[in-house]
Amino acid sequence: MLAELKSKLSSVSVLRADEPLAKRTTLRVGGSADIYVEPASEADLGFVLQWCGQRSVPFVVLGRGSNLLIRDGGIRGVVICLAQPHFSRVEISSYRIYCGAGAKLKQVAMDAKRENLTGLEFLEGIPGTVGGALRMNAGAMGSWTFDVVESIRYMDYAGQAHEQEAQEIKVEYRCCPLLKDHIALGAVLKGHPASREVVEKRMKAFNEKRWESQPAAPSAGCIFKNPTTIPAGKLIDELGLKGTRVGDAVVSQEHGNFIINDGKATARDVLELMAVIRKRVKDERGIELETEVEIIGE
Ligand code: EPU
Repeated sequence: MLAELKSKLSSVSVLRADEPLAKRTTLRVGGSADIYVEPASEADLGFVLQWCGQRSVPFVVLGRGSNLLIRDGGIRGVVICLAQPHFSRVEISSYRIYCGAGAKLKQVAMDAKRENLTGLEFLEGIPGTVGGALRMNAGAMGSWTFDVVESIRYMDYAGQAHEQEAQEIKVEYRCCPLLKDHIALGAVLKGHPASREVVEKRMKAFNEKRWESQPAAPSAGCIFKNPTTIPAGKLIDELGLKGTRVGDAVVSQEHGNFIINDGKATARDVLELMAVIRKRVKDERGIELETEVEIIGE
């Protein structure tokens, strides 16, 4: 099966079987992918999608794995990672930033700073890729991704590429529904000219806020979406759940909405701990916490 797929792709594309995925997530848990592909071009990505479609092989796209909980049994089918140079480029012209879906948000923020563009500083602390941030409409420090998007380029599951202006795209808190069944290829982001001092000051302030309120240990960021009535972290903190442990999965002391991997946590530990939190929150406050991290695999 692998050989057949390989024969359709250019020699630069990466293709491997039984690829361990824990190291590709920030939480560092989860099993292996049956097939792992890093397509070198849009054409190769299109071939992979068509191949999967024709054979009913499931696939998922992996970004930096920073908002992801992969179950211990791993992922059947194909895991696609847009890590090759074609997808990870960042180019700036005037106030526009052209970035591939595989580009790291930190790099986008740094490149914008180098060109004295403001508005993108909040991206610096999000440990994800542009594609993941678009799909999740990731946010921090009072901004979310689509605040700075001018247009996006994406592919449908038949391998056809499309482009769309941001104002035509429906987005929600932590979700871009269009990208739930399409793959982000890249985006044009926009910044505003500013002095270097202004950009540096904003970035430093965001950075400090993050370091004082969020853990440095391996995690998947915030585990639950914020309910409309109270931030999930505050709620979990108020219920005295910080430090609660299942195996090596622990509710962070720094921020109640983070679960950290304190060594050798498994996905099962993390899922059990999430269930403990959800039950306490439901029993004591009547609130149904909604998961923010994406949970995939067997
Ligand atoms: N709080 C507590 N105890 C805690 C955590 C927070 O009392 O353990 C209080 C804080 O003092 C503050 C309020 O809760 O008054 C909100 O906390 P914070 O400013 O940390 O923001 P958040 O709503 O918990 C959101 C995003 C984060 C993002 C931060 C900073 C969600 C689910 N989370 O957290 O995003 O980094 O704002 O802008 O929307 C992520 O999505 O993975 C993520 C980390």
